[in-house]
Amino acid sequence: MFNMILFGPPGAGKGTQSRFISAHYGYVHLSTGQVLRDTIARDGASGQLIKKFIDRGYLVPDDIVLRELLRESLEHADAPGLIFDGFPRTVHQAEILDEMLTRKGMPLKLVVSLEVEKDELYRRIMGRSVDSGRSDDREEVIKQRFLTYETETLPLKSFYRQEGRLVEVSGMAPKQVVFERIRKHIDARLEPMGRESSSYGIRE
Ligand code: AP5
Ligand code: MG
Repeated sequence: MFNMILFGPPGAGKGTQSRFISAHYGYVHLSTGQVLRDTIARDGASGQLIKKFIDRGYLVPDDIVLRELLRESLEHADAPGLIFDGFPRTVHQAEILDEMLTRKGMPLKLVVSLEVEKDELYRRIMGRSVDSGRSDDREEVIKQRFLTYETETLPLKSFYRQEGRLVEVSGMAPKQVVFERIRKHIDARLEPMGRESSSYGIRE
């Protein structure tokens, strides 16, 4: 199983590139943001609590995120690969993920950090806000999302860099060009058999 993380600030293109990767390699895209928004849409008590954090641009507490993510990932136990988009977001979450994947004997193969300039991030999110329907795509919330990213999530980069699993990819290019850049890093890490199984869904 090929497990990878797409890491980067709000608007960097994590969701966009996850969809490209998923379409090309058949890996399952796990977006914690989307999983949490789906829970909000179901309109239960848990969703209302989650909404309070998201609408302020704060991180949702770990116990909730882990419960939601675990529920979602269990459904994809036999996928050829998993793409974690927006998870982990703290060093604590990274340690939990490592522990979980190591226990299952399917360690993390790659962490891609998407590098995009801040002005461009704003432009992209404001562009998307027109029809995203996302309650956190508002200027004051976006500012807090960046702040949360800088204080809580950015330290993760040195965590993964120290372990030699991080590659930095410039996201300042058309979507397809960014995908080609990521693809090179994935292909370089695939076993010949893995390449076949991930492209055609054939598993031993
Ligand atoms: P989440 O949903 O993960 O949001 P985010 O990290 O703020 O990132 P976005 O989804 O806004 O951006 P993206 O990088 O996916 O970019 P996209 O591809 O959409 O999290 C939302 C909230 O949930 C968090 O604030 C937090 O409260 C909570 N949460 C989530 N995970 C959590 C966790 N693990 N722990 C605790 N709380 C958690 O692209 C953006 C736009 O740009 C699109 O319009 C796209 O079409 C465009 N675009 C993309 N690439 C390009 C390109 N190359 N050129 C031009 N335009 C591009
Ligand atoms: Mg996203």
